[in-house]
Amino acid sequence: MPRRSEEMPQGSMTPIRLVERRNKVQIPPDGVQRGRRLHSIRRRYAQLLRRYLFENLEEVLLEIYELGREAVVDELGLLSIAEMHHEAMGEIFSGNRDIQFSDNHYRMAGVVLSELLSAYEMTSRGYREASTAMRHLNEMLEDEIRRIAHAIHDGAGQYLACVHISLYAIAKHVDDEGKKELRKAHELLDELERDLRRISHELRPRVLENSGLSGAVEFLADSVIKRTGLAIHVEDRIQRRLPSTIETALYRCIQELLNNAVKHAHASNVWILLEERRHLIHCEVRDDGVGFDASAALVHEKGSQLGFLGIKERVAVLGGGLEIESSRGRGVRVVITLPAQG
Ligand SMILES: Nc1ncnc2c1ncn2[C@@H]1O[C@H](COP(=O)(O)OP(=O)(O)OP(=O)(O)O)[C@@H](O)[C@H]1O
Ligand SMILES: [Mg+2]
Repeated sequence: MPRRSEEMPQGSMTPIRLVERRNKVQIPPDGVQRGRRLHSIRRRYAQLLRRYLFENLEEVLLEIYELGREAVVDELGLLSIAEMHHEAMGEIFSGNRDIQFSDNHYRMAGVVLSELLSAYEMTSRGYREASTAMRHLNEMLEDEIRRIAHAIHDGAGQYLACVHISLYAIAKHVDDEGKKELRKAHELLDELERDLRRISHELRPRVLENSGLSGAVEFLADSVIKRTGLAIHVEDRIQRRLPSTIETALYRCIQELLNNAVKHAHASNVWILLEERRHLIHCEVRDDGVGFDASAALVHEKGSQLGFLGIKERVAVLGGGLEIESSRGRGVRVVITLPAQG
């Protein structure tokens, strides 16, 4: 059984920290350039608002919508939008003391603000739709994996049983030397069967469906311990079933992180911690291995390294966050955070 640890030693890292959060799809323009663009958005918003209030031109709304799209691209947050609207209204009010503002002006200002925000609404709808499509794709992939796992487990198992039977039949017609060779063949087949069973269980452990994430992670850790001798310490503070999308996603992420620890870390220990805090599921996987340059983890030119990218995508689909912390010689710490409702 994987060892359980009471605490996760933190060590004294001076880590390179890389935080990936959802919606961060654009590389932000550099500070000065961005500042200029935001200033230009504010200035044009005030002009357009003024034009709409005093000239009441419908085409101004189209320009407002386009400005909203620009603001989305420049990642101007909703609080900044509210502030910008407030400022623009202030400018118009204080600069026109002789003009009487009617209820109609306030209503029209509301129309302008809604038009600006509709660009945000469209973007978030697009994001929700893309996210739903990714979830469906993910479910289809999981179904396919389940099918392959069963095919390996049941299908290949039956073929192997047939080969055993044929070998027994052949054994009746061969001399002692031949029987010895056939016994070796039986042993190799047994080994193959064990390997196939292990692969099929790791692909889609029934234990994930039956006992949930906790059992599946223990199973996975057990299997890695047996295969590699790595000490894996699992601490599950959640102890309840989570939505299956979360369980599957976390299982896949932990599986990849354990694979990485085995392949790259040259570690002696891996610590896995699962806990729930304020409706968020936290999953931390740490090792005491050689570490690496974390800033390069999510940028692979050759496209041959898919582990971290896969984790990033799984986490993004569920609206979560990913943090990779490492420095050479100081191990790796990965923290995945997901909303608990899936
Ligand atoms: N635990 C770790 N310890 C040290 N280096 C790591 C660790 N995890 C990842 N790395 C480094 O980060 C790189 C990227 O990891 P990633 O999982 O994305 O790709 P990969 O494991 O090389 O390939 P793939 O996962 O597609 O089989 C690795 O090649 C390795 O250099
Ligand atoms: Mg990998």
